[in-house]
Amino acid sequence: MAKKVYTDYFFDEPAYNTHDGGYIPLITPKVEPQPLAIPPLLKPDRQTATSDYYTVTAQESTTHFLPGQPTKTWGYNASFLGQTIVFREGKQTHIDLKNDLPELTTFHWHGLNVPGPITDGGCHAPVYPGETNHIDFKVQQPAATLWLHAHPCPSTATQVWKGLATMVIVQDAVEAKLPLPRNYGVDDIPMVLQDREFHADNQFDYRADYDPDGVQGHTALVNGTVNPYFDVTTQRVRLRILNGSNRREWRLHFNDDLAFAQVASDGGILPAPVYMTKVMVTCAERDEIVVDFGKYHVGDVVTLMTDETALCQFRIKDFVPDDTKLPEHLVDILDEAPTPDVPVRKITMDGMDDEVALNGKKFDMQRIDARQRVNDVVIWEIRNTNSCKNGMVHPFHVHGTQFTVLSRDGGPVYPNEHGLKDTVGVNPGETVRIKVKFALTGVYMYHCHIIEHEDGGMMAQIESYDPAHPQTYHLMDMETLRNAFAKEQGVKPEDVWMPGC
Ligand code: C2O
Ligand code: CU
Ligand code: CU
Repeated sequence: MAKKVYTDYFFDEPAYNTHDGGYIPLITPKVEPQPLAIPPLLKPDRQTATSDYYTVTAQESTTHFLPGQPTKTWGYNASFLGQTIVFREGKQTHIDLKNDLPELTTFHWHGLNVPGPITDGGCHAPVYPGETNHIDFKVQQPAATLWLHAHPCPSTATQVWKGLATMVIVQDAVEAKLPLPRNYGVDDIPMVLQDREFHADNQFDYRADYDPDGVQGHTALVNGTVNPYFDVTTQRVRLRILNGSNRREWRLHFNDDLAFAQVASDGGILPAPVYMTKVMVTCAERDEIVVDFGKYHVGDVVTLMTDETALCQFRIKDFVPDDTKLPEHLVDILDEAPTPDVPVRKITMDGMDDEVALNGKKFDMQRIDARQRVNDVVIWEIRNTNSCKNGMVHPFHVHGTQFTVLSRDGGPVYPNEHGLKDTVGVNPGETVRIKVKFALTGVYMYHCHIIEHEDGGMMAQIESYDPAHPQTYHLMDMETLRNAFAKEQGVKPEDVWMPGC
């Protein structure tokens, strides 16, 4: 039976960011192709049979993106973005979170099921300059591509723009048995997709570029590389694609419409590979795709595009036969029935620009907006109230869990949405149902992942509670953060620039 190959982006075309007034098109950079940077794997400080110990340092440095001046950047154990961190399912993981920046930051483990609000690293868990916090957790979820990024309110967008984002890979025994490429940096390639604007002397200037609907730049970066190429053989290659952009959606396809197989989404391996020639990745989503270069010849070049702009060239360097076939079935996804008698949780993502809100309200760090009993399986219904004519796709993200997508406007979900996810793009005017369970207690944020929208208040928080063990949480407040930023910047608290506030 011939495999079905999907040839569209699934999302509503009128909502693509190319149709928004503030859209900034990508411009092909005038620099020679450069080898794609592969972030090194972060070395553990120490490992035992049951535990891994890491130190993650947020640091400032400079990075050569373009000829001429280096750019002032931030990163995790690196000058920009970071080293890739590997977690192993079942292991006790101990991490020192070290802040060598001149500003407070937080370390948010996007997609990782760890207790909120502190271990999770949202706005309630600042690490002040010069300080080190420590977290411990057990990795209890399937193999997946996750990420770490800064999440201080309301400066998440600024800090991510400077470079505070890096890939996290969870490994487990199930994924290890599948016939998938997994030689990191050789045939298993991280691809962090971002865009940036370069100002005088090649510097970033977030404030100059600020747009409450999301900051964009004219230059695409893959792992921080401008105009990258990557040498491959005729074997299959796995691309771990992470949309690490503040606002840009990526609409990926190859220049010759080469079909590929999506094998994983945010939370891990899909139940079955999905064959496609195009995939759209909204902010914070991850898609792993397997690309088979078997039909090419040495010397051929295949280009990964986003819309009409070239993103990364794959240069076929060598012939290596590869007849591995992807199985028709990959993994089983646990599908639990909703807990009886628990009402559907209704959420609206409202507005654009400065008007953004969630359920009509702006985010308040001190307010717990909703409660859900730990281990309950609850249907959440998320509606994007933007107009279908000129609204945006809002990527809805929940901390501390991986959910399943049930329906779009009562109909089927997209073919690549049958796995676990922590972020789902909702079209303007659309209603998406998801099924959410928190396996741990804590306070968790949920929000639009256009980062300027979350900083602007399209965000709320939920307590996952255990009636037998009530807890109280120390929640951060704006004044404390504002005063801390003021002290660090040497300005009066009222002069601290807090975009979106
Ligand atoms: Cu990437 Cu609040 O998260
Ligand atoms: Cu998150
Ligand atoms: Cu949004």
